[in-house]
Amino acid sequence: MLLFLDTADLDEIRTARSWGVVSGVTTNPTLVAKAGHRDVRAFLAEASHLVDGPLHFEVTALDREGMVREGRELASVAPNLAIKVPCTEEGLGACRALAEAGIPTNVTLVFSLNQALLAARAGAAYVSPFVGRLDDIGADGLGLVKDVVRMYALHGIAAKVLAASLRHPRHVTDAALAGAQIGTMPFSVLRQMVRHPLTDAGLARFMADWERLDAR
Ligand code: E4P
Repeated sequence: MLLFLDTADLDEIRTARSWGVVSGVTTNPTLVAKAGHRDVRAFLAEASHLVDGPLHFEVTALDREGMVREGRELASVAPNLAIKVPCTEEGLGACRALAEAGIPTNVTLVFSLNQALLAARAGAAYVSPFVGRLDDIGADGLGLVKDVVRMYALHGIAAKVLAASLRHPRHVTDAALAGAQIGTMPFSVLRQMVRHPLTDAGLARFMADWERLDAR
């Protein structure tokens, strides 16, 4: 499973990139607003250079024509842009139009198998089941990821399953074991994945032993 960072924070992108583990970045309107980017094009231009892989950015129009217009404009900023559209009737139509124009799309806010099937049939390059938000309402987020992976395999569907709304390291492990091709997560989750108390303790012991050798 490839690891994507879910953020609109340029410093987080820089740091995670320096670890050499990030294959792409997703954002959403909430994250862009939180980061306070007033000039979206400037943010996209800068972020697109920092990302070794696709940068997923979401349209904010709600009608098909508006989404297509916005998607085309955004995609013109950098060659590695993928356009996120919501899983609505208008969003599916926009996905089809953008896909036919050669612009990769990510159908987002997917919460059911039928939505995942529709998104794939609308030509989505990526489909994003939201794990944490399903768990929030007592449903089985990872179960949906597993089922989408199985359904796509059964029908030879090429759309990539992008497990989104991953809130903790166990979500990441389970999404990878479920067969999602991509998992996107906040920087805090990526950092939690690196850390292990036995790594810290082991390193401290190695360093202490090494210093004893130096002291001789
Ligand atoms: C993915 O593209 C979404 O931006 C994200 O994963 C949503 O996560 P949340 O449900 O924790 O807000």
